[in-house]
Amino acid sequence: MKLAIGNDHAAVELKNTIMEYLKGKGIEVVNVGTDTSERFDYPIAGYRVAKLVAAGEVDGGVLICGTGVGISLAANKVKGIRACVCSDPYTAKLSKQHNNTNIIAFGARVIGDETAKMIVDEWINAKFEGGRHEQRVALITEIEQTQALASRGE
Ligand code: RB5
Repeated sequence: MKLAIGNDHAAVELKNTIMEYLKGKGIEVVNVGTDTSERFDYPIAGYRVAKLVAAGEVDGGVLICGTGVGISLAANKVKGIRACVCSDPYTAKLSKQHNNTNIIAFGARVIGDETAKMIVDEWINAKFEGGRHEQRVALITEIEQTQALASRGE
C-alpha cells in the first residue's frame, strides 16, 4: 500500500508521528510537506495529496492541519476526492465502508497521537461495502460532475 500525507505548519509533529507509524506497518508514504513550522497554507498540502490520489498514483491520502477542516475542504475541491475529517476511529471506519473515502483528515489541535493512530488503522483496514452504498456515492459523483442531481429530478 502507498499513501500520500500532507499537513500545514500546525501539524508537523503529528504528521511525523503518523508517517513513522505507517512506515512501521510496511506502508510506503509520499510526504508532500510541510516539514517546518513556518506558515504553510493548508490548501497547498490538501491539493497536492488530492492530486496524487485522484491520479491513482497512491492508494489514499492522510491530511492533517489544526482542525482537519480546511485541509479536507481543499482536497474535496479536486474531482474524484472524498475526504472526511474525523476525530474518532468509528467515523473513520464507516467513512470507508459506506462513503468510500479516499482521504482521511484530522486535526493536530483536536486529537492526540494515539487517537490519530487508531483513526488511520481503522481507515486503512476498512473496505468499501458497495451494495446500497454504491448508488449513494454515485450520487455524490453526479453532483460533482454536473452540479445537479438530474437522476433524482433535482
Ligand atoms: C492554521 O492556524 C489553522 O487555521 C489550520 O491549521 C486549520 O485548522 C484550518 O482548518
